[in-house]
Amino acid sequence: MVKFRTVMGESEILGGAIAERPREVSEHPLLAAIYDRHDALIQRHAHPDGRSLELAFGRHSHPDADVGVEVFHQNSVDATGVEATTADARALPFADDSFDTVIGRRFLHHVPEGERGRIIAEARRVLAPGGRLILLEGTPGLYRRFAKHLAFRLGALGEDTDEYGHLSVGEMQTLLDENGFDTVELRRLGSPLMPLSISKRSWSARAAPLYERTQFVRWWSLAVATPTPEPVAVSRVVPAEDGEERREPRKQRHV
Ligand SMILES: C[S@@+](CC[C@H](N)C(=O)[O-])C[C@H]1O[C@@H](n2cnc3c(N)ncnc32)[C@H](O)[C@@H]1O
Repeated sequence: MVKFRTVMGESEILGGAIAERPREVSEHPLLAAIYDRHDALIQRHAHPDGRSLELAFGRHSHPDADVGVEVFHQNSVDATGVEATTADARALPFADDSFDTVIGRRFLHHVPEGERGRIIAEARRVLAPGGRLILLEGTPGLYRRFAKHLAFRLGALGEDTDEYGHLSVGEMQTLLDENGFDTVELRRLGSPLMPLSISKRSWSARAAPLYERTQFVRWWSLAVATPTPEPVAVSRVVPAEDGEERREPRKQRHV
């Protein structure tokens, strides 16, 4: 992996991916309640048997994850309860068909848009036939922009932009379609109370029931998908004689 720039604080750019030490979830009572809700939602969709892998778990791994992968070494060394591996989700150090569930939450926006397909293709490679891929990703939108900008102005966030941008529901669907997955479910999650999740005050947890009942702001989307039984059609970028890159026609590839 190429390490070409180090930025201030607990983050660095590794081969183009933004590796970081995220917030400690348990310090934010409403955020902790939201994570519990997401953990339960993911558990409902996970494959009932077998091994599960969590990609880019940051500082919070799913309670059912057997194996975790994180690109930022500081996250993977002290994670508890999972067999944490420091690795890049774009090149997983696992054999084909070795998991029944792959979970990835809130991290595709840390990777340049053109490389997200590699992550989904890797997830497909390590998933056994009939396995499940469960993604929870931030969606772009006016409310997110407004809320993050406000948090930044109040000093609760170090930056108010997302370097590579979040994924719309359509972009999630395209990523899954192009990398050999059938989407089983694609749903929106999010409440106008999201900005409150930054608070460390214990009273913020009291907003959890209201958060549950106000799931109408676009903030995240949850996608559940299963590998298609057919081989994936892949296209390869080839440098043309005039120096410009072109895409070769699609070929069938067994993955
Ligand atoms: C916003 S945090 C989310 C962490 C966790 N999934 C969660 O929901 O709390 C994004 C995480 O992705 C990790 N990350 C970024 N690019 C990665 C990559 N290519 N492979 C593995 N981890 C990556 C970062 O180090 C960071 O911990």
